[in-house]
Amino acid sequence: MKYQRPRGTKDILPPEHAERQAIYEKARDILRSYGYRFIETPVFEKLELFVRSIGETTDIVEKEMFTFARGDETYALRPEGTAGAVRAFLEERMSAPAKVAYWGPFFRAERPQKGRLRQFTQLGVECFGVASFLLDAEQIEIALRLFEAWGIREVELLLNSIGCPDDRVRYRKDLLAYLREKESELCEDCTRRLDKNPVRTLDCKTDGPRLADAPRMTDYLCEDCGRHYAGLKEALTERGIAFREEPGLWRGLDYYTRTVFEFVAKGLGAQSSVGGGGRYDLLVEQMGGPRTPASGWAIGIERVQIARGEVGGHFPGPDYFVVSIGPDARAQAIRLASDLRARGLWVELDYEDDKPGKQLKLADRLGARKAIIMGEEELARGVLKLKDMTTGEEGFVRPDEITGP
Ligand code: HAM
Repeated sequence: MKYQRPRGTKDILPPEHAERQAIYEKARDILRSYGYRFIETPVFEKLELFVRSIGETTDIVEKEMFTFARGDETYALRPEGTAGAVRAFLEERMSAPAKVAYWGPFFRAERPQKGRLRQFTQLGVECFGVASFLLDAEQIEIALRLFEAWGIREVELLLNSIGCPDDRVRYRKDLLAYLREKESELCEDCTRRLDKNPVRTLDCKTDGPRLADAPRMTDYLCEDCGRHYAGLKEALTERGIAFREEPGLWRGLDYYTRTVFEFVAKGLGAQSSVGGGGRYDLLVEQMGGPRTPASGWAIGIERVQIARGEVGGHFPGPDYFVVSIGPDARAQAIRLASDLRARGLWVELDYEDDKPGKQLKLADRLGARKAIIMGEEELARGVLKLKDMTTGEEGFVRPDEITGP
């Protein structure tokens, strides 16, 4: 094979595409009920936008971005959606509170494996201008509602609070002291960024699990952050939403404040996180806007599909296949197909002037539900022969009697 798709990308063929469409449609309806409206932002932005918002010492920025230069500018394919949403919120002067949703391709140059792609699809939501923990709880509820609607059971919610920058200064001091004692056991990346970004060690895939007795961020929350976290836990409980507090959960992006969470689904193996998000109350200001509290999440659609199980089942074929015999019938068949298609029916016909038997075989192969047979005899009588392709039953109808599938 001469040409192959780039590593970590996928071709999405009709059955899977239809499944994704159904996933999207369910999400659209649920998101609308919570007031989220879809936006689209460019799939590439200036590199600087991502460096500033996601953080210089994150894995995403350090090693996972697809970047390219054009003229004097360096761009990157978007690795996530929050940065672009914040940029659009400010540039388009959206008024707060604003609730937006997005669905589209994202790009990270990670090592591909099951559930980890270099081009993947995220569904995300962002809300600008609401500070209350009630919003955090509501956004979590939305995600859980989506998982339920998509038929994914057994999703676990992991929860943590990483407080505000002041809390983290105090925490960082103690954490650093703790990590220094273990420095010789840490991986290369963590050792290198120990001073700049010690908390990354906590969610490092290698070191994180070995640091269970590290100081906990939630013990360092100031009064306001502590109240926010307590309020959120209470609000979740009131909604009947179970969660597991995960002190090591920091998420791979630097913009979060206070609430961070992740959704973990069974059957995903190493890439068990189907979605994640949190609050980022300082990012809008950091990007040059007014102080605007904000919160959101994103869900990986390919992982949703894996969690739902293999795509399968019956993929429906055309409503009708029009078989025509002879040139007169053929001209009429083309007109009939056009009429039926104008009514929204899926109609196929033979393009090759094949014999009726071959046309019927094609109808069968395409999975047509019914065949309409037009021959000289039917033409003379002004009727159509209708064949049910599943039962083989045949009968005659007038053209105007075909109104639906
Ligand atoms: P994230 O945790 O980096 O968060 O990504 C969210 C979800 O995208 C993951 O849970 C996963 O399902 C999916 N995902 C990420 N990388 C890949 C990949 N390489 N292959 C397949 N799926 C992947 C964010 O991106 C934040 N912007 C979420 C957010 C929105 N926080 C606040 N607002």
